[in-house]
Amino acid sequence: MKDLNLDWANLPFGYIPTDYNVRCRYANGKWGEIEVSTSETVDLHIAATCLHYGQEIFEGLKAFRGKDGKVRVFRMRENAKRIRSSAEGLCMQPVPEDLFCEMVEKVVRLNARFIPPYGSGASLYIRPLEIGITPSVGVKSSTEYLFIILVSPVGPYFKTGFKPTDICIMRQYDRVAPKGTGRWKTGGNYAASLMSGNHAHELGYSAVLYLDPREKKYLDECGPANFFAIKDGKYITPASDSILPSVTNKSLMQLCDDMGIDVEARHIAVDELKEVTEAGACGTAAVISPVREIDDLDTGDKYVVSADGEPGPISTMLYNKLRGIQLGEEEDVHGWNSVFEGI
Ligand code: PLP
Ligand code: COI
Repeated sequence: MKDLNLDWANLPFGYIPTDYNVRCRYANGKWGEIEVSTSETVDLHIAATCLHYGQEIFEGLKAFRGKDGKVRVFRMRENAKRIRSSAEGLCMQPVPEDLFCEMVEKVVRLNARFIPPYGSGASLYIRPLEIGITPSVGVKSSTEYLFIILVSPVGPYFKTGFKPTDICIMRQYDRVAPKGTGRWKTGGNYAASLMSGNHAHELGYSAVLYLDPREKKYLDECGPANFFAIKDGKYITPASDSILPSVTNKSLMQLCDDMGIDVEARHIAVDELKEVTEAGACGTAAVISPVREIDDLDTGDKYVVSADGEPGPISTMLYNKLRGIQLGEEEDVHGWNSVFEGI
């Protein structure tokens, strides 16, 4: 059994060993039985396609301990659907949605003692991943796959939590190609973002706001999160082929709709940043990370979004509503949570 001497309120967003992970293999044309493992490693063929040609996809979702003591996993069917789309994009064998959900429930139950307590601000991050494991030196798809789900208790992704940070635009980097892999969650996209991300961090920014890779004219997304802004009281967010369709963003758009806030998912030109009154990065890890200032490092333009350095009213309302639903404090009218009883 792993150490459980954790400082729940001060967890980083990182890997903390837990008791179990769950695994399932695809071979001979079918998915096998779910295996429960205590091992933190995988034994791979040295010529596996995931190692050489990047046949790797993953997901990220969270489990929360609610006010009522119940455990809720947020919108896991959406992640099950998205990993299917990523599998299709990378020519991999899709994990059936029911198998995905069964394995999420299993790994959460097995590691229940690692679910952070209500009120700590932390959650159990669930990281499903699928890799191609067939040996091949020619560039082709695997015929065998390994699907694993590991979990780790985590705190906020951006160290400041719900406190505005500065982000930047740098045109010398692209994360993905115009009709490339940006809409799928594959490791290569993140490898391709390391150089720009490191550069931004060295300059004191929390993330890069990527532009559309074709024209460098429109906003795309924000490091490991989608981007939204409030303009004329409307929630605006980029529509683009090269960004990940975020479950959090989709949820925020629905919450806006519920609250009577207009939503526009469309191209957003960089220039429009002059007129935004709030902005944020949104995602499972990021939740809502409000933006204080966006610096365009090529033009020298500085778009100050939050002059007082505080999150804006609409971002705050959305953040509270989303967290409230995830923690069972607000009614889950859309049926987003899977509630796991008895743990
Ligand atoms: N965009 C990228 C590149 C991401 O890695 C993530 C994180 O999953 C998101 C957006 C946000 O997506 P979601 O809200 O589904 O976590
Ligand atoms: C998530 O928000 O779940 C992510 O995958 C983002 C990042 C940690 C890669």
